[in-house]
Amino acid sequence: MRVSRRTLLALLGGAGASAAVGVPLLAGLSGSTSTGALLPSLMPLPQPFTLPFRVPPVLAPTRRDAAGDHYEIVQRAATAEILPGVLTPIWGYNGIFPGPTIVSTRGRPTTVTHRNELPVPVVVHLHGGHTPAAHDGFPADLLHPAGTPAGPHDHRHAATPAYGTRTYRYPVRQPAATLWYHDHRMDFTGPAVWRGLAGFHLVRDPAEDRLGLPAGDRDLPVMIADRAFAADGSLRYPSLDPALLHTPGVTGPYGAGVLGDVLLVNGVPWPLAEVPAVRHRLRLLNASNARRYRLSLDPAPRGGPALTQIGTDGGLLTEPIAHDAVELAPGQRCDVVVDFARYGPGREVTLRNEFGDRSTAAVMRFRVGGAAPDPSRIPDRLAPDPVVAPGPAATVRTLRFRHDTVRGMPGWTVNGAPFDPAHSIADPLLGDTEVWRLVSDFHHPVHLHLGHFRVLSRGIGGPGPYDHGPRDTIDLRPAEQATIAVSFTDYPGRYVLHCHNLEHEDMAMMSVFTTRAAGR
Ligand code: C2O
Ligand code: CU
Ligand code: CU
Repeated sequence: MRVSRRTLLALLGGAGASAAVGVPLLAGLSGSTSTGALLPSLMPLPQPFTLPFRVPPVLAPTRRDAAGDHYEIVQRAATAEILPGVLTPIWGYNGIFPGPTIVSTRGRPTTVTHRNELPVPVVVHLHGGHTPAAHDGFPADLLHPAGTPAGPHDHRHAATPAYGTRTYRYPVRQPAATLWYHDHRMDFTGPAVWRGLAGFHLVRDPAEDRLGLPAGDRDLPVMIADRAFAADGSLRYPSLDPALLHTPGVTGPYGAGVLGDVLLVNGVPWPLAEVPAVRHRLRLLNASNARRYRLSLDPAPRGGPALTQIGTDGGLLTEPIAHDAVELAPGQRCDVVVDFARYGPGREVTLRNEFGDRSTAAVMRFRVGGAAPDPSRIPDRLAPDPVVAPGPAATVRTLRFRHDTVRGMPGWTVNGAPFDPAHSIADPLLGDTEVWRLVSDFHHPVHLHLGHFRVLSRGIGGPGPYDHGPRDTIDLRPAEQATIAVSFTDYPGRYVLHCHNLEHEDMAMMSVFTTRAAGR
């Protein structure tokens, strides 16, 4: 590791932070927990497993026609009762956190018109979407607040600034998957997502429906996000500029990542879900800024692994994989099936976070009800593998993710350079599959826009147990090297790759790549 002790101490910050985070980080490279500093809540926290689990509402289209399904969302400030009896100001899609769930069908274009009634510019990115560049939420393509006059506020690197409203067009030419949408404004993504700008976007596919997986109210989106609360009930976040307009970044130790002490599931702290004793699909999403999770069920069921993984970031696996626990870095998704029939009626089963301690050691609880008919099944073959294997002459690129000095401040870089929206570091040809070698100092969940990838290797071994299937985010652990194969298809233009630790992203760990069509 090429990080001096001084840098490391600066990263770890205060004594409290080192107690929670420093020890595993100093212990170094085992990769067992998160890079970041704990931001404690300044108000009493509720008893876990007392508030009811809920699923975000599904958004109804305003219109369906030959061109596809059309949705409208207003981004606005609102208050939410997250802790019982406490009103918390949030920023929400339609004023709620998580935002409403959008459900698309493969092959049917979806358009979403966002109106910005927040006091800051926004950018919307569909994470995991295979999206044309102009609609992907490039971090400088700002949507300015309604009422802003056009012109002087344009970001100098914006391809297409917008004022008041912007329509994002998604072709949805991709397999069934658990996607999510969230804010992606240059320099201010971390605090905007923390305030609530995140929601699910599910892609359905008749081919998936035919498999017979658990469906309907047995198909549960589970957005896991940690947060901290100030004494007045607001969300606590260590922004240098609380208005989120001018100076990006966070104070002192939090530059390594902001870790909250409250675990929210779909916006509810440590909820309790009542479930019939049948198979359920859990669409696990780690929407946290910096926290990593290792999720398991307690007690474990008798007779083998509790979790049957069926999907990942980009959609279904080729075949199911049985796990006792799954690890999830920020930005990643993991679809698992849990058969609650393996627990007797009345049993309580906790979704544990083995990477947490104290208040972050448990995520939510299930209370198993009576038996019920269960027509669902988990077939041995789920879906074809969409990622093309790289040829022997594939282009190989190396990307180094590390702590660095950025404009005189501690920050994070890719190949030694901070994010520059005007500078592209790679120009893959559409139709090619490339091999990218990723090298880290600390934990860096590296995310690519546009293309899904397959993990070829991690360290000197093959892919890790949680790396299988089409991914868009890899959980790169400290002092690690991994190689991925990524196919670039369909859309030419300017995209980003970045660390999905949102504090790292805001403090410049992002780069542009530009896809080009053959012959150009
Ligand atoms: Cu979920 Cu570029 O981000
Ligand atoms: Cu993304
Ligand atoms: Cu990072």
